[in-house]
Amino acid sequence: MRTAVLTVSSSVARGTREDASGEALAALAAEAGCELAHRDVVADDRAAIEAALRGYARDGCALVFTTGGTGLTPDDVTPEATRAVIDRDAPGFAEALRAESLRHTPMGVLSRGAAGIAGRTLIVNFPGNPKAIGELFGVIAPTLGHAVQTLGGRSVH
Ligand code: MTE
Repeated sequence: MRTAVLTVSSSVARGTREDASGEALAALAAEAGCELAHRDVVADDRAAIEAALRGYARDGCALVFTTGGTGLTPDDVTPEATRAVIDRDAPGFAEALRAESLRHTPMGVLSRGAAGIAGRTLIVNFPGNPKAIGELFGVIAPTLGHAVQTLGGRSVH
């Protein structure tokens, strides 16, 4: 399961904050059997996010996990960049993540994270809080093998 992890954060990109959420996401993805092909940081810049996501799809990544940029500030544009790149929605991932978030914090409603498919690449947005990654990754981890098989054209039940 060729995988990319993308941290979207202007402060991490500037070097004024550590990339704790990207590290957590990469570690949990590896534990779930993902082969980490890309691990990048971009600022909260829609064009830069879109370019990174398109590059991962072109490179044949089956899975792309982003962290950050899903909130309500004017800078938060990860869901818009994701929706610009995907050709099919996969709303169950975003719905499941938000539902799980609400079990941990009422602030879970503030994440606008999206999920969808660009060609044969599944992209899932996570919130930027490192704590959120630990709270949420386990919700989708058991689905990834099946998701990647079906993305590749195999119907599995
Ligand atoms: N979800 C979980 N599980 N845990 C969290 O701590 N933080 C929330 C929300 N979702 C949070 C969460 C907060 S405070 C915000 S502002 C939004 O995610 C968006 O975060 P982002 O802009 O860093 O992506």
